[in-house]
This record gives sequence, structure tokens and C-alpha cells, in this order.
Amino acid sequence: MFLLNKNIVLGVTGGIAAYKSAELVRRLKDQGANVRVVMTTGGKAFITPLTLQAVSGNPVSDSLLDPEAEAAMGHIELAKWADLVLIAPATANTIAKIAAGMADNLLTTICLATAAPIAIAPAMNQQMWHANATQANMQLINALGIDVWGPGAGEQACGDVGFGRMIEPGEIVQHCGDFFAEPIKTLSGQHWVITAGPTREAIDPVRYISNHSSGKMGFAIASAASKAGAEVTVISGPVNLATPDNCARVDVQSAEQMHQQALALAENATVFVACAAVADYRVADIKEQKIKKSADVMSIELVKNPDIVADVAKLTQKPFTVGFAAETQDVEHYAKGKLAKKNLDMIAANNVATQGQGFNSDDNALTIYWTDGSKELPLTNKMELATQLVASINERMHDDKRS
Ligand code: C5P
Repeated sequence: MFLLNKNIVLGVTGGIAAYKSAELVRRLKDQGANVRVVMTTGGKAFITPLTLQAVSGNPVSDSLLDPEAEAAMGHIELAKWADLVLIAPATANTIAKIAAGMADNLLTTICLATAAPIAIAPAMNQQMWHANATQANMQLINALGIDVWGPGAGEQACGDVGFGRMIEPGEIVQHCGDFFAEPIKTLSGQHWVITAGPTREAIDPVRYISNHSSGKMGFAIASAASKAGAEVTVISGPVNLATPDNCARVDVQSAEQMHQQALALAENATVFVACAAVADYRVADIKEQKIKKSADVMSIELVKNPDIVADVAKLTQKPFTVGFAAETQDVEHYAKGKLAKKNLDMIAANNVATQGQGFNSDDNALTIYWTDGSKELPLTNKMELATQLVASINERMHDDKRS
């Protein structure tokens, strides 16, 4: 009963696959779900509300403007009741409406009014699925964070062969199960400390030296480690990002402040990930008053900052220490050099000269190196990449302990 007490609003729209909706409802209920069916006019042309009422054990809703139905369980109530809004079958027309944010019937209105996740199982003729308009709508659907289950390929009701078949009710129920499954907390009991973002090295009270680091990669790693069950502390330079759920956050400005916090927190850490773009140098003599404009040329003397990750790696109780190497050339050579020089357990290297990845971007690709191995993590969004990196770190740490 992997869907026990889960409230599912099942949207049934006008595709021939709607004849499978009765079986879908029955299977969802077999797994313990409470199901309330919402039908579009098209959906009702393929299967009767009476059938779906009988199998779901609940009244079927089909109208936004029916005062009686609204008084019983209105659209907002249904939208709030749902733990998941599942649309199966989802026609090209309903997909287009949801992608556009329309609310012209009960089902599309619920989609706008719900805070619950939405999943769709597309069902349409293969030509309609491949149509540019549908594919453009599917991009919008993905960007809205809506889960898409299917479609499958095969022979279609109209005789065509290709993509567009709704996946089978059993597969949809399996997707629902995966969707509600608690992630395996593989990192429980571990404490991860992660540095993120740039540092700011003051010149005078109003000016500073910094860099373009957004902090997105470090925050994504924090979020991924926390989701996998670790206790996480992010030491963050100035960034414009919300703290990931369940993570502790220490805000710092300068490299020296980050250094101090990192050494204090790393002592009790299982893993230390240095994702911050720390300024290599700070201003030797920070002026107390704003520097006035005068000579045509001016110079500022800089002194070297402490190397945070290298100092963490020198701790007697050294956590599994991971560095980053943002390089513009000879990535492998420089990354391996830093791995050895800083006594790291792993280094994640990326080529920041490549457009669309790294600094300030939502996507990234990494190659991770350790003393006697390496692994490619290909270009993807930083959240997905962070999940893969966290898993790789955990794997390596356990391999190290075994050897
Ligand atoms: O700047 P560099 O290329 O040496 O950075 C490599 C790694 O060292 C990164 O993980 C970075 O966060 C870390 N680092 C640090 N403290 C510094 C400089 C770099 O922790 N002062």
C-alpha cells in the first residue's frame, strides 16, 4: 500500500486512452490512495462519470460553474485537498492550456489553484505529439516543474505507429509510488560543511574586490547533501540565494572570516567541500575613510589570503576534503596539481572558459579526480550535477575507508 492516505485528484481529458482511467482509479485505490476524479467535456465523451464515480467511491467533478458541485467540494477545496494532481490521459489541448496558465475549465483551474505537484501522462496521435506547438508546450511544462510520465510508443487507436500512447495504468501507479517514496537517507549521521559564493575584500568603507561567483553550485551541493540525509552547514560569501531547506548557514564577507569559520566547523565535519571562489589576495591596508580621487594612476598593495581548503586538509581530524578547480586551460593538469599540493581527497574541475557552464550559470559539467582515478559528470543543471557529485563523494569516502 505505497499510496496509503495520499489524496490524488485524477484529471481525465478527452483521449481514447480515457477508457483505461477506470482501471487506473482502481489500481490507485488498491495502493491506498483516495481518488477524486475531475473530467473535462472531452473526457466525458470517452467514459462516463458514473463509471468513475463507482470505481473511485467519490462524486466526479466536471464543472467550474455548477453551484451545487462548488458548494459540495469547490475548485479551491479540491486544489487544497490534493497531494498530487495527476492528469491521465492528458491531451495536447489540455497540455497547451496548462502550459499557457489558462483556467477555462475545472481541471485547468485546479492546476493553477493547487500548491500540490502536478504530473501528466500525455496521450495523443503521434503527429500531434511531434507537432512543433506541442513540443514547445512540453518545454514550458518541463520549465513549470510538472512531471511528465510517458508517452509510450507503439500502435495507436487511429492506426498510426509512434510516440503518443498513454503509458499503462500499472506504470502510472508505479510512477506515483516513486513520486511519494521517501528518499533513502544515505548520508544520515554525516556532517557536511560547504563553502560557497565569492568573498569580498574591502578596499575602503565603500569599495571591495570580488568575483562573479553566484554561489549556486555550493548551495546546490548543500541542498543535495541535506536531501540525502546529512546535517549541512553552508559558509557563504555574499550571494543572492535562499538557504536550502534544513541547512544551517553562516554568512561571511572576507576570506579571513571564511577561513576562521571553516576551520572551526571543519573539526567536527565528515566532509568539507570548498566550493567558494575565495579571493587569492586581500588589501594590505584597508582605509578607514573613503579613498579620494586624485592621481591618474593609483596602486593598491595586496597580500595573500590563507588557503582555506589547504588548511582544513592539514587538520589532525581531517574531514574528507573536496576542492574545486575552475580553470580556463589545461584543466586536468592544474586540477591534479591542486589535488596533490593541497592534500585533498578529491577535486572537482570545470572549464570556466566554456560558454553556458560554471560561473553565474545554471548549468555545469565537472570532472572529478582523486589520487588514482577520475570520473566525468556531464553538462546538466547544477542541482542534478550536485546530486551526482554528493553521491560520488560518499562513494569515494567509503572506498577510501575500505582500502
Ligand atoms: O583558487 P584555487 O584555484 O586554488 O581554488 C581551488 C580550491 O581551493 C577551491 O576549492 C577553493 O574553494 C579553495 N580555496 C580556498 N581558499 C583560498 C583559495 C582557494 O579554500 N584562499
